[in-house]
Amino acid sequence: MASMKTVLYLGVCLSAWSVTTADNNYALRAQNVHWVSLDFKTILTWNTPASNYTYTVLYSMDDSDWIECPDCSQVSESECDLTNYLIPFNRSYNADVQTEPATMNYNHDTEELPHTYSSKFNPYRESNISAVKFIVEDVDKSRVIVNITDPLTSIHQQGRQLSIRDVLKNDLKYKISYYKSGSTGKRDIISDSSMAEVTELDAGQSYCFIVAAYIPSRPKSTQYGAWSEQCCIHGHTTQELSLGAWVGAVFILLTVIIIIIITVTVFCCRCCQQRSNTMHTTQSSAPV
Ligand SMILES: *[C@@H]1O[C@H](CO)[C@@H](O)[C@H](O)[C@H]1NC(C)=O
Ligand SMILES: *[C@@H]1O[C@H](CO)[C@@H](O)[C@H](O)[C@H]1NC(C)=O
Repeated sequence: MASMKTVLYLGVCLSAWSVTTADNNYALRAQNVHWVSLDFKTILTWNTPASNYTYTVLYSMDDSDWIECPDCSQVSESECDLTNYLIPFNRSYNADVQTEPATMNYNHDTEELPHTYSSKFNPYRESNISAVKFIVEDVDKSRVIVNITDPLTSIHQQGRQLSIRDVLKNDLKYKISYYKSGSTGKRDIISDSSMAEVTELDAGQSYCFIVAAYIPSRPKSTQYGAWSEQCCIHGHTTQELSLGAWVGAVFILLTVIIIIIITVTVFCCRCCQQRSNTMHTTQSSAPV
């Protein structure tokens, strides 16, 4: 027990010592270093404590050697796009942001640069997934097909832009939530593919659908993508027409009838006039 205490004290002393030595550099360290990732486009961002400094980003996969990111060497921006370096996706990555004076007479070997480590990040498990676009197509009175477009990533391989399906493969499912218009009850379907059939709908009723990517193999907090906008289909029976639609239809019909009556009247009058004119002419010329 006593030796345990000694070790603890030693630990406390050591960390206090390292805090004091690091203090000089502390003000120059990049702050609030964090990952922002959407559809596997992954950017490391930070706050810059002072101007006139540049930043160099290093990364490491599964705690192996640090590699300098070629795109983010002595940059003055406060972000670094690491998308193309965090491959394979399903690994744990760490990053380190180093601050360097813009005037380049720093000796890398003898002086440790002020720097800040990021948290660990696994793109495959933690990248956010954006809201999807989808269409709902009628099959028959009680069935529809929900046709979902897999969001695209910013990764290109062999001249092709990968979708999230290319990355997540069979781990990607979609959750489709739908409800009958005017009812509060909601039903859910989990679909393995980007095309899902929804059955047992009541004929002639309107339904609304929303969809989100669903990745059950991920940790709870990142299992769902953003929810889509809702898409509604309307039953095709005549009772569904609202009062407004009826008034509109009757109004258009009346207008059309009035226009026809006016046109016909005008046309007929012209005709009659013309005919009586011709009659007069023939009559007057007849005796010659
Ligand atoms: C994912 O989205 C949530 C909610 O908007 C956000 O808090 C989180 O930081 C995002 N994660 C990444 C890695 O971008
Ligand atoms: C699904 O939608 C896409 C585009 O939105 C279309 O090209 C494709 O033919 C649709 N599939 C079916 C089975 O309707």
